[in-house]
Amino acid sequence: MNRISNLTLNNGITMPCLGLGVLDRANRASTAAAVEAAIADGYRLIDTAASYLNEREVGEGLARSGVARADLFVTTKVWMSDYGEEKTLHAYEASLGRLGLDYIDLYLLHWPVPLDFEATIAAYKVLEKLLAEGRVRAIGVSNFSAAHLENLMAQTEIVPAVNQVELNPSFQQKDLRAAHRQLGIVTQAWSPIGGGFRRSADQGSDPIADPVIAGLAQKHGRTAAQIILRWHIQNGVSVVPKSFNPKRIVENRNVFDFELPADDMAAINALDKGLRTGPDPETTTAAAFDIAIED
Ligand SMILES: NC(=O)c1ccc[n+]([C@@H]2O[C@H](COP(=O)([O-])OP(=O)(O)OC[C@H]3O[C@@H](n4cnc5c(N)ncnc54)[C@H](OP(=O)(O)O)[C@@H]3O)[C@@H](O)[C@H]2O)c1
Repeated sequence: MNRISNLTLNNGITMPCLGLGVLDRANRASTAAAVEAAIADGYRLIDTAASYLNEREVGEGLARSGVARADLFVTTKVWMSDYGEEKTLHAYEASLGRLGLDYIDLYLLHWPVPLDFEATIAAYKVLEKLLAEGRVRAIGVSNFSAAHLENLMAQTEIVPAVNQVELNPSFQQKDLRAAHRQLGIVTQAWSPIGGGFRRSADQGSDPIADPVIAGLAQKHGRTAAQIILRWHIQNGVSVVPKSFNPKRIVENRNVFDFELPADDMAAINALDKGLRTGPDPETTTAAAFDIAIED
């Protein structure tokens, strides 16, 4: 059966282990069609964020899909400039309105703000309240280090269900994944097939162009992207590959009918270069990104 399998989060709800990422501000007009195509192909998880400036278009795609709300899994994220008791609640209401939904499945803090961690804590406490009120089904974080998680958990009640972090064969985050396993937090990979490298000057470290991955792709009769996504899934990692291309949307979902043997997994494990393409979570601030969230 080539169907997307589910992971169970630490509060008992299930989440598809593969979903569609939709970060592409330059092409936001293509978002609704991509969401609709993905859902028609069997995707149920859509990963957006207030800062992607396309929640309205995601909502349009969800509505056009004709799939019942209860069968969809929508993740969105609160942006750093909206951290704080009243601001985070307002940001949640604004996201709901743009998406045209009356609850969110998974609501994440988009980045830690280590230079003002009090605001990060205040925002997370709003997420805890939304969870208690049944307005979100699960809460979590994104781009948190193990130390950020420890700091957060020391000051709040609910263990995040998910930490969505940059993760691909060139940046494997082995220690952080081990910490997640210990804490019962699901690791979700952003740029799972190395999209960050293709946006950067360091194209030489793009895992999709790696000769080892190319060899495995040939061996299994799959594409490089499929080999990488399968590696994540066999590691118990959730993935949200982004594509607005109908053929690649189908390709990326088509990874549940083959298995990588242990030696192939080990060959990919050996490709870690420890290279991050995104900002350093130790120093993130909203100002560094210069994104104006719509109301
Ligand atoms: N939490 C965070 O801070 C954070 C940060 C970044 C991203 N994210 C989330 O993670 C998602 C994925 O990350 P990402 O967009 O950075 O990178 P990605 O999913 O690793 O790669 C996406 C790029 O690869 C191309 N692509 C897609 N499928 C392909 C395939 N089968 N073969 C070759 N190329 C393919 C896409 O172009 P086409 O569209 O033309 O196919 C796009 O340029 C985002 O959309 C977003 O939802 C979260």
